[in-house]
Amino acid sequence: MLKLRAWAVSDLDRIGEIEQSSFSDPWSGQMLEGAFRSLNFIGFVLEEESRVVGYIGGGHVLDEGEVFLVAVDSQSRNKGYGKMLVNEFIRSCLDYGVKRVFLEVRRSNTTAIACYTSCGFIKIAERARYYGDGEDAIIMEKKI
Ligand SMILES: CC(C)(COP(=O)(O)OP(=O)(O)OC[C@H]1O[C@@H](n2cnc3c(N)ncnc32)[C@H](O)[C@@H]1OP(=O)(O)O)[C@@H](O)C(=O)NCCC(=O)NCCS
Repeated sequence: MLKLRAWAVSDLDRIGEIEQSSFSDPWSGQMLEGAFRSLNFIGFVLEEESRVVGYIGGGHVLDEGEVFLVAVDSQSRNKGYGKMLVNEFIRSCLDYGVKRVFLEVRRSNTTAIACYTSCGFIKIAERARYYGDGEDAIIMEKKI
């Protein structure tokens, strides 16, 4: 059974595990907890048979929302879970009066770009050599 629910503090270890296995520059447990405890945090996890298999986290300020983190466990990818998480984030942003949601993604991350495009995000800018290893960032926006 699938369940989409808000992040809880007890999810942080499992989120950290998926984060470690998904990124070359993962957020540390401390960074994840800091984001989780921040005032304007919005975050959801997706559970499959009571096990967290994906998460999204971000924040909202005035009428802008931003996705900081999103990942799905490698064994559960390409089943629509990434889209479910992004769409839930957007739905929640609407409750806070957000009008535009932003995110940044590595230029080479075509899977993530496909997921965001499918959710209605469009590329609005690029930031050259944004990441620590010199890769460019693509900035995407969805008006909601
Ligand atoms: C990016 C990520 C979250 C997407 O999650 P997912 O559950 O695999 O994606 P979905 O199954 O919801 O797919 C969403 C869309 O992307 C497309 N897609 C998924 N995998 C793809 C692939 N390998 N190549 C091209 N398109 C792909 C799907 O076709 C779908 O579009 P559609 O509904 O219009 O057909 C997941 O791949 C992931 O965790 N990657 C590693 C971490 C990461 O890069 N996070 C993003 C950082 S910015």
